[in-house]
Amino acid sequence: MTAQLIDGKTMAARLLEELKRRIQRRIEKGARVPCLAVVLVGTDPASTIYVRKKRETCESLGMRSLAHNLPADTAQDALLALIDTLNADPGVDGILVQLPLPEHLDSTQVIERIDPAKDVDGFHPYNIGRLAQRIPTLRPCTPKGVMTMLGTLGVELKGRHAVVVGASNIVGRPMALELLLAGCTVTVCHRFTRNLADLVGDAEILVAAAGKPGLIKGEWIRQGAIVVDVGINRMESGKICGDVEFEPARDRASWITPVPGGVGPMTVAMLMENTLDALERREHGA
Ligand code: GUN
Repeated sequence: MTAQLIDGKTMAARLLEELKRRIQRRIEKGARVPCLAVVLVGTDPASTIYVRKKRETCESLGMRSLAHNLPADTAQDALLALIDTLNADPGVDGILVQLPLPEHLDSTQVIERIDPAKDVDGFHPYNIGRLAQRIPTLRPCTPKGVMTMLGTLGVELKGRHAVVVGASNIVGRPMALELLLAGCTVTVCHRFTRNLADLVGDAEILVAAAGKPGLIKGEWIRQGAIVVDVGINRMESGKICGDVEFEPARDRASWITPVPGGVGPMTVAMLMENTLDALERREHGA
């Protein structure tokens, strides 16, 4: 079997066109355009690229983007004070603090300081708790993007064995909650998992989010599995690759996401959608 590609790039472009039209209709009605504040602390090269992409996408949709680029030695109190200001500003709809933060900063405290109604990353314990309790509000962007992609395949998810590799707060954990909400039987693998190959081999849906290039061997993949690779790993050559050995996995899977051009563009599209949703929810007092 040679897997069909799940083309996140095209899917994201289509979603962004829809969002652009939604924003255009707001402008025609004289309503306010959404505004996303993107906070970057320091100059980590990967974070700088991601943040630039988010800001450019905002602008391409006619949304406002507020750039807060803070020096790497920013104090915790100064960052919290900025968040307080953004929380209190009625013209700001979404607040995103790019992670990881420099080591001296406490990201838990920072995330908890963001008004949950403006937490477009969906990382605040309130929003994660809502997802855990099957009443999602603002949902973490990467898992939401993966669920959107899975939803286009015309495959019943209920009762499927889904295996998530990686248990991070940003991807693995909320991904497991999303799959559970969709009715999958979910296994989460992490650094202490002993029989990774066996568990991956039983996955009807595999989501790889470990951030380790080539961790998942092609021969582990179950015949006909749906393989979603969230990994974005930059090799020394400059080439970007995922967590799954792509070519041999493609020979066994029914569907597979490419890297790049798979999950990455969907994450950005979901962030834009969350920002517009956050604005509309606040307008409707939700
Ligand atoms: N770092 C890696 N992915 C993300 C993300 O989705 N949001 C934020 N804020 N930081 C990240």
